[in-house]
Amino acid sequence: MKKILFIGIGQEHGPKQRMTKALLEKGAEYIYAKWSDLSFLGDKMYVQTQEIDFNEIGGVFFDIPRLSTTIKVAGKAKGSMDFHLENEMHSLLTILKEKNIYAPNRDFLLKHPYYNKFSQAHIFACNTIAAIPTLHLCDNKKQKIAEMFAVAGFDFPIVAKESYGGQGEKVWKITNQKELEAFIENRRNVNVVWQPFVKNDADYRVIVVGGECLGTMKRSAKEGEWKNNFSLGGDVAKHADEEMQKFAVEACRKMKLDIAGLDIFATQNGYLIIEANLFFGLDGFESVFQDLDVSGKILEMIINKTK
Ligand SMILES: Nc1ncnc2c1ncn2[C@@H]1O[C@H](COP(=O)(O)OP(=O)(O)O)[C@@H](O)[C@H]1O
Ligand SMILES: [Mg+2]
Repeated sequence: MKKILFIGIGQEHGPKQRMTKALLEKGAEYIYAKWSDLSFLGDKMYVQTQEIDFNEIGGVFFDIPRLSTTIKVAGKAKGSMDFHLENEMHSLLTILKEKNIYAPNRDFLLKHPYYNKFSQAHIFACNTIAAIPTLHLCDNKKQKIAEMFAVAGFDFPIVAKESYGGQGEKVWKITNQKELEAFIENRRNVNVVWQPFVKNDADYRVIVVGGECLGTMKRSAKEGEWKNNFSLGGDVAKHADEEMQKFAVEACRKMKLDIAGLDIFATQNGYLIIEANLFFGLDGFESVFQDLDVSGKILEMIINKTK
């Protein structure tokens, strides 16, 4: 069998350990590289200084093409630097497509390389997937926001999200005009989405791999918090709802996603997608589904496509 190229973001990062374990268990030969180890020279790609021979690669698994590095001055941390490698990911995927090498969500990401909360909302709407109404402005100017809130029929409380955020860290509830003005003060040019606040006491994370639902986890916010993220201390529990699973599988089918962690609200009017994560943490999920090896399932899918 050919090798798996596995691109991660760092040593300490959970997905690296999980996928490495899965690769070792399956006895799959692989090349590991961090996104930051990659270079492009002409039409060739390198891991460190070693050219990648795509003829020996059967499939590729990659983690999120974004990373943060600490800037140190005289040994002391002085802030951080964010790398956005969507451009590089797109070039890699173009090579894979040309050489007919599989990677999960390859074709989806070729079509939507700048995938974030803004572009997702657009993709949901185009695929008739029920989702939270979402507004995005190219320029977050007070007057323009007021005008578009009127067009969208939005009223406070509003939820604002930076489009590239994750783990609940870049999501805010805004309850009045004064808060809104304070929020946009330094964000006029930041990619933000606006949504009505959806009353809830929980949301659900559904993991879909290769058209199959692996399980559903209910998440409820810790006391004093309104966001249900596990990373913010939310409570997690196994959940069984076949209709919701069907909804999630169908959403992935419509979007042609091979892997996704969907966040879903169950409302009186039906299910609503909050977001579809292409790169998602597994700590919460595997704490309630202890016998489930999500990375192993993903790897099996890659190996099957490689054959
Ligand atoms: N429109 C909304 N109304 C109410 N709660 C929301 C809304 N959008 C998100 N949330 C809450 O915030 C959490 C984080 O939002 P999400 O869009 O999933 O961003 P992240 O990528 O940071 O997880 C959700 O799990 C949910 O609990
Ligand atoms: Mg989320």
